[in-house]
Amino acid sequence: MKILLLQGSARKKGNTARVLGWVEEELSTLGHEVEAIYLNAKNLKGCLGCAKCKELPDEVGCVQKDDIPEFLGKIVHSQLVVFASPLYFWGVTAQLKAVIDRTYSLYTQYHQPDHASLVEGQRQALLVTGGGPWDNNAEAAFTAFSRIQNPHKSVHAGELFIGGCTTPGDMDDKVKDQAIEFARKITG
Ligand SMILES: Cc1cc2nc3c(=O)[nH]c(=O)nc-3n(C[C@H](O)[C@H](O)[C@H](O)COP(=O)(O)O)c2cc1C
Repeated sequence: MKILLLQGSARKKGNTARVLGWVEEELSTLGHEVEAIYLNAKNLKGCLGCAKCKELPDEVGCVQKDDIPEFLGKIVHSQLVVFASPLYFWGVTAQLKAVIDRTYSLYTQYHQPDHASLVEGQRQALLVTGGGPWDNNAEAAFTAFSRIQNPHKSVHAGELFIGGCTTPGDMDDKVKDQAIEFARKITG
């Protein structure tokens, strides 16, 4: 399976990178073709809301020429995409949100009978680390993510929240086991 990992934390060796690293390792061990993108090193602009992309329904048609159209192409050609981020003010980071918002260009006619998506049937999963607990903290990010799958017509492959994070070195084998279990689950 062709798999894309979108690493949304600016901290290259932070908590999210550590957990995602275990996920990547397991996916590779299982024989999948995995590519990870460290978003913070890229040129990312927010969606303009111009809707020019809706005039080009069969292609990735964003008018902005930063790095995101290339990622959108990679997203479209993947069977599974893992969106990974630390929790920032009850949501995902600006880096990952910029990519998510730009997926606006991947579908047309939402809520109409001829609704079409370039990622229809794609498996998508969310991995989030946070300093706090799940309750009254992390659930909104996961709710928003599951809603994205309606316009995308994608498949909810799985979700993982690692709360109570301090430093990456403090993560124990229990977290590693959760990451491995998540990797196995999301591939179906
Ligand atoms: C700007 C900012 C906002 C944050 N907001 C939250 C939050 O709303 N809930 C939470 O549990 N942790 C929050 N945190 C803590 C991080 O989510 C947590 O430390 C995370 O594991 C960091 O991941 P990283 O090392 O991959 O960057 C916040 C941290 C920062 C810097």
